[in-house]
Amino acid sequence: MEYDSIEQMNPEDRELAQAAINATKHSYAPYSKFNVGAAVMLEDGEIITGSNQENAAYPSGLCAERTAMFYASANRPDKAMTKIAVAAGQDGKLCDSPATPCGACRQVMAQYQTKGGRNMEIILVGGRKVWKFEKVDDILPFIFDSI
Ligand code: THU
Repeated sequence: MEYDSIEQMNPEDRELAQAAINATKHSYAPYSKFNVGAAVMLEDGEIITGSNQENAAYPSGLCAERTAMFYASANRPDKAMTKIAVAAGQDGKLCDSPATPCGACRQVMAQYQTKGGRNMEIILVGGRKVWKFEKVDDILPFIFDSI
């Protein structure tokens, strides 16, 4: 699904998208200066947010999506994550096009979708375009989910 703005979405999705936009302000990105925010909705409606956190030892940093999902699973282990919204900005302005999650974040989304036992919707928020996907499978084909 594609929208021109978050105003066209249902109230719950809009609230989650706005939470992701707000979370970009808490990004710590002194190296890339690319500010990403993520907002996870739990099955009871609670919203957990995260932002990218960078480090001088570059690989030690973490994307916004995983910051939010790891916090959610660590603190609300029994609540399924039903939706995740992601927004990105630079210089205090939302990027026109949605930021698309990296492969590692998609893999983590996949596993929490399985853990929760229900689809995790994905909302990618840009200033001029917003994309919504029904489930992680839509952005990660051939998901690896067992050894
Ligand atoms: N980043 C995210 O937080 N999420 C994404 O979906 C894409 C990339 C972060 C990682 C790094 O801090 C910065 O954006 C530049 O890649």
